[in-house]
Amino acid sequence: MHDGLHRRVLLVDSGVGGLSVAAAIRQRVPEAAQLYVADNAMFPYGRLPAPVLAARLAGLVHAVRARIVLDAAVVACNTASTAVLAELRAALADLPFVGVVPPLKTAGKVSRTRVVALLATEGTARSPYVDDLIAAFLPDARVLRPDCRGLAVEAEKKLRGQPLDREVIRAVLAGLPEAERAAVDTVVLGCTHYAFLVPELQEALGHAARFLDPAMPVARRLAQVLAGLPAPASPPDPAWDDLALFTASDDTLALLEPALRRAGFRRTALQDPGRAVPAAG
Ligand code: DGL
Repeated sequence: MHDGLHRRVLLVDSGVGGLSVAAAIRQRVPEAAQLYVADNAMFPYGRLPAPVLAARLAGLVHAVRARIVLDAAVVACNTASTAVLAELRAALADLPFVGVVPPLKTAGKVSRTRVVALLATEGTARSPYVDDLIAAFLPDARVLRPDCRGLAVEAEKKLRGQPLDREVIRAVLAGLPEAERAAVDTVVLGCTHYAFLVPELQEALGHAARFLDPAMPVARRLAQVLAGLPAPASPPDPAWDDLALFTASDDTLALLEPALRRAGFRRTALQDPGRAVPAAG
């Protein structure tokens, strides 16, 4: 519910995958101004060791907070959320964080065949956090974790309007044993980038299945968190509100304009806030 207050929320991902979450937040929490940081200097996060990722994200958040008041931060990335959300909360205890984790709990409720495909980066798919979710919510199910190498890059291309390499997308599902693939009735999107590839993944799967995207549950959670906060001290700031910030220059950034506008971002800028201040220890 719109409380008339100006809220400002930071979203951070390794690239533009988190725009799937931003779009859900626009719908569910339209009163929140968003600052989106695409940390493309460090893309992909899937390859980074957890301590590096934790220091990098804490550094980014500190640097942003040195300039503007934030009401909350959304780690719009499963890889970072499953690996370092606890560290971030500890390092920045006065800022509410909302993370994105693969919706395995929902899969446990809706899968009938009990054969579920988890599509995620290697870091997420192998994380103890995900093992715990599977043990808690899908103990009786077969959870397939195909190699999703290259999929986030394909999503980045799609949002730039560039041609896709269909073979990369096909190979993810083709790598599964045929009998198990045919039994999959639920696909868990465990990476925010993959939400943009649902039609292609659906086609590659070859039969109808339910695709579970955590974006809207994250937006609902953010709405709850914001509703529980005291009145914000931050007036609207045209220089920062609804700005998408990239941490590295890239010849193709201009191609992202239509996708950024669709997700409600009015301006883009190039700046690495992570370099402005030392990372938090
Ligand atoms: N969007 C990120 C996620 O949700 C992953 C992409 C990457 O590896 O950087 O996991």
